[in-house]
Amino acid sequence: MARSSRLVASTATALFFLFLSAACSCRAAGDSPSAVVLPVRKDSATGQYLTGFRQRTPQVPVTAVLDLGGGTLWVDCDAGYVSSSYARVPCASKLCRLAKTGACATSCVGKPSPGCLNDTCGGFPENTVTRVSTGGNLITDVLSVPTTFRPAPGPLATAPAFLFTCGATFLTEGLAAGATGMASLSRARFALPTQLAAAFRFSRKFALCLTSTSAAGVVVFGDAPYAFQPGVDLSKSLLYTPLLVNNVSTAGVSGEKDKSSEYFIGVTAIKVNGRAVPLNASLLTIDRQGGGGTKLSTVAPYTVLETSIHKAVTDAFAAETAMIPRVRAVAPFKLCYDGSKVGSTRVGPAVPTVELVLQSEAASWVVFGANSMVAAKGGALCLGVVDGGAAPRTSVVVGGHMMEDNLLEFDLQRSRLGFSSSLLFRQTTCNNFRLG
Ligand SMILES: *[C@@H]1O[C@H](CO)[C@@H](O)[C@H](O)[C@H]1NC(C)=O
Ligand SMILES: *[C@@H]1O[C@H](CO)[C@@H](O)[C@H](O)[C@H]1NC(C)=O
Ligand SMILES: *[C@@H]1O[C@H](CO)[C@@H](O)[C@H](O)[C@H]1NC(C)=O
Repeated sequence: MARSSRLVASTATALFFLFLSAACSCRAAGDSPSAVVLPVRKDSATGQYLTGFRQRTPQVPVTAVLDLGGGTLWVDCDAGYVSSSYARVPCASKLCRLAKTGACATSCVGKPSPGCLNDTCGGFPENTVTRVSTGGNLITDVLSVPTTFRPAPGPLATAPAFLFTCGATFLTEGLAAGATGMASLSRARFALPTQLAAAFRFSRKFALCLTSTSAAGVVVFGDAPYAFQPGVDLSKSLLYTPLLVNNVSTAGVSGEKDKSSEYFIGVTAIKVNGRAVPLNASLLTIDRQGGGGTKLSTVAPYTVLETSIHKAVTDAFAAETAMIPRVRAVAPFKLCYDGSKVGSTRVGPAVPTVELVLQSEAASWVVFGANSMVAAKGGALCLGVVDGGAAPRTSVVVGGHMMEDNLLEFDLQRSRLGFSSSLLFRQTTCNNFRLG
């Protein structure tokens, strides 16, 4: 995909100035914490996951939609952005070069503001829910995040010059009420995981634990034990699979050689009730154009499957549940049951397991009823997979519902995903995460 809104490309001669700006402005105030946390809650109206942090001077709380994709944090700089501490990222700076956007806003006529600056590195913030992107300035400002919030709120850790992209008010359309931007958890250089790791000098990894309700889940950045009440420590009991790099960008706006910053995993087969579902396995591999494969997405509320995979999985699930009375399907789902006729277990409705078989030996992500079934209107209980059409860019998109109350560790340094399967098995939930 070509850059659709290319700004003025920065020139190589500008490298001369790199020397001046090479000093990293990303040092934390006070002692560096070994981990920082962001609380996460689900917005019931949209199924989006929201997080909050403090930004600017004077500091204000900012709410943003959490996104495993995306490139940077972006916030609406047009409406109500007031701060005495923001600074532009000059086109000729090291930060601009590292951001690799190839864009520079040379001049802006008007009063200087975060959205109107001369000689400022440009970016392409994308609303990955609506797939709308625009051009906007790259700037830095103070950003503070908690070092812990349970059992009790801890001190904030502050990055004095956290880089982000200025979005516009129209770009926030389609986001949950109250959200004024999106916080990227992707592998991109200035997405939260890598930038926080650089600011606070901890490992380039984070753990994501989403809840199914408005109770707080968590993203933990850095090095922390994965401790949950009552007395459950998952640090040593995760299964691992490699994180794959899709060599072709999946973003709305990208350069020709950009790799995707999203997280792909190597699903090699899908099983229902332990039996392999017959499907076209080549759809599960990432092809030379970057199509196919399996990625994880927090902006997809439910898992999205390419049409033939969706049909195969739904048929297999129907065959394994022939004894459970069905009801008329509730969109967007195709297979629904009379919820009152489905038994319940510790890990949700008593239905066959769905298994994502992964490329590394013996590692399977086993999905139980709490993560495969969705309560729909009229008491229906539906298999929570959605038909993504016959030629989607990515064949399998693991959505938020399937990840809830599972601990997922994205280790960028070791390029691997650690996963716990359902925490309900261990009689805990993501709401019980404790740090400090
Ligand atoms: C950008 O530079 C021009 C020319 O020096 C000036 O007129 C304009 O006010 C500047 N814009 C901002 C936002 O500082
Ligand atoms: C991406 O490119 C690298 C190096 O060329 C290669 O080793 C890797 O297998 C490619 N990834 C995919 C998913 O094709
Ligand atoms: C399997 O999928 C690949 C990739 O989309 C396609 O080229 C091929 O024709 C499919 N094979 C069958 C038997 O449908």
